[in-house]
Amino acid sequence: MAQEIFDKVNNLLGEIQAATPDTPEQVEQFRIRFLGTKNVLKPLFGEFRNIPNERKKEFGTAMNNLKEAAEKKYEALKAQAEQATEAAEAANLDLSAPGEPIALGGRHPVSIVMNRIVEIFSRIGFNVAQDREIEDDWHNFTALNTPEDHPARDMQDTYYLRDDVERLLRTHTSSVQVRTMTHQKPPIRSIFPGRVYRNETISARAHCQFHQVEGLYIDENVSFADLKQTLDYFAKEMFGAQTKIRLRPSFFPFTEPSAEVDVSCFICGGEGCNVCKYTSWVEILGCGMVDPNVLENCGIDPDKYTGFAFGMGVERIAMLKYRINDIRLLFENDIRFLKQFDSAF
Ligand code: PHE
Repeated sequence: MAQEIFDKVNNLLGEIQAATPDTPEQVEQFRIRFLGTKNVLKPLFGEFRNIPNERKKEFGTAMNNLKEAAEKKYEALKAQAEQATEAAEAANLDLSAPGEPIALGGRHPVSIVMNRIVEIFSRIGFNVAQDREIEDDWHNFTALNTPEDHPARDMQDTYYLRDDVERLLRTHTSSVQVRTMTHQKPPIRSIFPGRVYRNETISARAHCQFHQVEGLYIDENVSFADLKQTLDYFAKEMFGAQTKIRLRPSFFPFTEPSAEVDVSCFICGGEGCNVCKYTSWVEILGCGMVDPNVLENCGIDPDKYTGFAFGMGVERIAMLKYRINDIRLLFENDIRFLKQFDSAF
């Protein structure tokens, strides 16, 4: 009687060792038969009481071995099945399938507009010059014919470095015009993109930092007509072929005569809208003929050379172009805002 039970145990052990299930279904059947809730080992454990005392220990060991063998076999089968699935997947790989597209980032609207301005002027022979943002008083003001008592020097507008009245954060990139003129002999034909700072209260319309692109052309016989022609070309390239420009007399300490330039409204085409405030024109830049005093300050002979200069605010143009109504959006780096711009130009 006891021997019969021992034989059953041995048979099951043989069965476990010999099992070669190869489909996932067969592996599952193996699990149910030997490890499931109604597995074949359970009734054998119940036979314990029919085993004579002197063989109980031997029976316990045999049953434990049986259970362990089932568990080990099942673990091995599972690992084997996983490997087989991976191998099958690898074999099915379609190496000719198109790759996952890489999501392209967009450019910041200020960079888009700045790059576009630089690109237009470089086509007509302007090169790019950049220089420091921490400037001295001479390059930012004095050389530019800005008298000591000019309101632009007021502490209200300019960030000075701590108690140092000599060093300041440049208020315009005209300082780079000065650096170029003092280092280079005419002809000079350059544009100056960069970040500038003014001590303004931050609001929807104004910020204490923004970007400018200024331009300078100095040679013999440069005239106001050259300035107008250059700006007309720029406006048509930037805002569309039908764009017109209009110059209004203005004042800057470093240019004489000076003008402010409007372009015909590129949103409504002159019909009147809230971007041009129903005037059909939008102001985009300041310009003028370089004041002879400035040329002289920078070591250029004003009797031999003349030149024009202009300057525009990049944020202002970006806001007009993309109908952005709050300049602060351009400095917050909110991804939901930035995602709306592509890098088309
Ligand atoms: N520097 C002037 C500004 O910051 C712009 C300007 C540049 C005007 C050159 C005339 C000529 O507002």
